[in-house]
Amino acid sequence: METNVSDTNLRCTEIRRRNRIILFPLPFQGHINPILQLANILHTQGFKITIIHTEYNSPNHSNYPHLAFKSISDRFFEIESQLATKIDADPAYFVKYLNRSCVEPFRECLGGLLAEYGEGSIACLITDAVFCFTQAVADSVKLPRMVIRTSSPACILAWGALPFSSQNGYFNLTKQDSNYEESVPEYPIMKFKDVSKMTTNPESMRNLVTDMLSHMKASSGLIWNTFKELEEPALETIRQEFSVPNFALGPFHKYFPASSSSLIEQDRTVLSWLDTQSPKSVIYISFGSIAHITESEFQEVAQGLANTDFPFLWVVRPGVVPGSKWVESLPEKFIERVGDRGRIVKWAPQQDVLAHPATGCFWTHCGWNSTLESICEGVPMVCSPSFGDQPLNARYVSDVWKIGVLLEDGFERVGIQMALQRVMVDKEGEEMRERITSLKEKVNLSVDEVNTKDFRREGPEVTKWGTWEAWKTRK
Ligand code: UDX
Repeated sequence: METNVSDTNLRCTEIRRRNRIILFPLPFQGHINPILQLANILHTQGFKITIIHTEYNSPNHSNYPHLAFKSISDRFFEIESQLATKIDADPAYFVKYLNRSCVEPFRECLGGLLAEYGEGSIACLITDAVFCFTQAVADSVKLPRMVIRTSSPACILAWGALPFSSQNGYFNLTKQDSNYEESVPEYPIMKFKDVSKMTTNPESMRNLVTDMLSHMKASSGLIWNTFKELEEPALETIRQEFSVPNFALGPFHKYFPASSSSLIEQDRTVLSWLDTQSPKSVIYISFGSIAHITESEFQEVAQGLANTDFPFLWVVRPGVVPGSKWVESLPEKFIERVGDRGRIVKWAPQQDVLAHPATGCFWTHCGWNSTLESICEGVPMVCSPSFGDQPLNARYVSDVWKIGVLLEDGFERVGIQMALQRVMVDKEGEEMRERITSLKEKVNLSVDEVNTKDFRREGPEVTKWGTWEAWKTRK
């Protein structure tokens, strides 16, 4: 495409003037990581960055001397104790609370920043999609708000299509229900059993989803942590259904790693242990930062691992079993039985683990970051989704992209052994590895393409990072 030089110069002058972006992440690990990665990417593209963040789960400022931070009060301590028992069942509850408690502190903070920096110097506000209240605040000060959705585009389409109601027989199903294994008509990639895992409070979820969708549509643009080679059909539908500009800029962690935004200290000694293992021999197990499992599920995981011969690295996050301190519920003689074959840690440098040549399989809860990180390293998955977007992500991994096995019947030792065997040893595992390696290569190609272009210099139309207009003006 031909670029008119004087147009580009004018645009560049405007960009130099409006060169600050303010970001506001939801304070959970799976949201903080991608939003801080995006902040760093934008910084490398010449923007000055200010992060407004809640007191709860504050990022470590000293890891980012090049970014500015402003903390706001959130009163999250009032409900924090309910996280362990409630988040898997009703994640929307916590999000809705923050959407109320942060309004005034956020408004005040943003007003202060506008006064401090000068209105004409801020390109836009970028907030997590679930922070719906920020649209009205941004409108009131005439600042364009862009939205970053940290889950997949497919998740928004599925959530938009599903009838969230406790009256229609979609939620809280059990194996005994006749439609349990059937596809859901509104989004046939999902089964009823997937939908019933998403929340136990569909009305609460419906309100959040409705609010989120309408505010996404009212925004100045949508940013996705995905790449077109993975989700072209979903992105195309989003483009048709949302008339605002769309930017698939991911996978963010390929441009900037997540370790510096980790809220828990990562045990890096696991990397030298992995160095002693054979290529593609180790099972890496982690269920992310907020999902929980019961004590009996925890014991089935342990028994499933003990009954195989595979070396394993298991992240047992303190509190993953509500009420437990750490690994006190392990079956008797588990440690003696597995010996040097197994390592258990509280938190791992996940991206480095997945990139390590010894890692052969990722047993994951299918949080969107974990799913993307596994794809980017070509590591096939065993999926144990818990709630929210995870059941859908798992269905895509197993049934659409065919790069993993879904533990359809939950945590049960025989099923676990069989799933691990299928991925690690069987022919179908080999085929999954080939497919995920091909996706990894596509990611690498698209990352190379972006890295070889300097979009500030080359003008606005050149890369997948999109046009400048969308960043600085409301469409
Ligand atoms: C949550 C939701 O559960 C998820 O479904 C949604 O898509 C985002 O928000 P979480 O459950 O924490 O996130 O999972 P995930 O999205 O996978 O994010 C976890 C992050 O923590 C990843 O970036 C991962 O690399 C990191 N991590 C995980 C570590 O650094 N060390 C670990 O030991 C485990």
